[in-house]
Amino acid sequence: MIDQNKIIAIGPDLTDGEIVIDARGKLVVPGLIDVHVHLRDPGQTYKEDIASGAKAAAQGGFTTIACMPNTIPVIDSPEKVNNLIKQIEKVACVNILPMGAITLESEGRALTDFRALKKAGVIAFSDDGKVVQNAELMYRALIRSKELGLPISQHAEDLYLSSGTVINDGEIAFRLGVKGDTDLSESIIVARDILLAAHTGGHIHIEHISSEATVAMIREAKAKGTKVTAEVTPHHLLLTDEDVLKLGANCKMRPPLRTKRDMESLRQGLADGTIDCIATDHAPHAVEEKNVGLLNAANGIVGLETAVGLILTYLVHPGIISIENALAAWTYKPAQIFGMETKGRLAEGFDADITIIDLDKDWTVDTELFYSKGKNTPFDGCKLKGKAILTMVAGKVVWAEENFNLEGVSNGTDA
Ligand code: DOR
Repeated sequence: MIDQNKIIAIGPDLTDGEIVIDARGKLVVPGLIDVHVHLRDPGQTYKEDIASGAKAAAQGGFTTIACMPNTIPVIDSPEKVNNLIKQIEKVACVNILPMGAITLESEGRALTDFRALKKAGVIAFSDDGKVVQNAELMYRALIRSKELGLPISQHAEDLYLSSGTVINDGEIAFRLGVKGDTDLSESIIVARDILLAAHTGGHIHIEHISSEATVAMIREAKAKGTKVTAEVTPHHLLLTDEDVLKLGANCKMRPPLRTKRDMESLRQGLADGTIDCIATDHAPHAVEEKNVGLLNAANGIVGLETAVGLILTYLVHPGIISIENALAAWTYKPAQIFGMETKGRLAEGFDADITIIDLDKDWTVDTELFYSKGKNTPFDGCKLKGKAILTMVAGKVVWAEENFNLEGVSNGTDA
């Protein structure tokens, strides 16, 4: 039962509510959380903006998203965080929690004012899209993050090793005649940051991990008690560099899709809890930024509106990942890692952020129906089974399938 914006009671026989949403036969779960989203706002709103990204999140079943600071300008000062939050409060239909940059302009030269950024409302620090290449800066970043109790979220890519590369290193890169990125570019930064986290006691969160070596290192570090957490994207769980041959630039991203063996290790890592979160790395680009050949295409794909269907269809329904595991990676685990104290669980006193999922719904991905301005996905036309059918944020329905019976539900729905 919900009152205002909170869950006030949970049980089978709560019949005295004013409005009843009939979800019989469906899965009612804590509102899903995506901790890695590019909203491109401010600065590149032709790709996405806060309102369109939030609607895409709602349609995908996400009630809370964390937005990456690699906008124009980069979110590296409390003033920029304040402006962003003002805009979010004005136009977003889901919760959007900003991350602040680790370094000024994400240039890897000087740390931002972590304390001031935290005070302004960031939930973590990231230079995503770029890496903090300088170990001494990263060392100090982790010490400060420990003092403040916020994670450092790292895009792990050694820029010297990956320089000039287009896709994963191997036979496919060779056949296509492009320079390949070995998984060493990720592993070397992951290894370094695990050492730094172990030494400083700071919390390192590794973004969009892509390789077997990374999974193994994180598993070992966790066993030793190092404060390391990790996220994986649906595309790294479902595709390999071979898919670049069929699907082209919509399979180009950083880190790149790797081998079947890497993909299987990621699945294993998610299944055994080594990997904590499923995050989309939703990276919208304009058509003309992707349709320029593999070499010149922008990195990244959109993910908010396909993530749930893809994971259910290809991992949960075939029994590769349990539904409990998938939901944990979208709910209480990200909530715990990023300090969202009243999110991620259906429990009394928690926020009334709720997603209803129809596990059996057959549907086809159609980018024309996306709320996202980005249509750059390799999954267009995919036939999927399972979908979020209603998204509620703070007690208000912000999105629902057209045929969902919402009689009596008036507040906030745009269905
Ligand atoms: O493929 C990517 N695109 N990886 C990133 O880390 C950044 C992102 C973007 O901002 O487009």
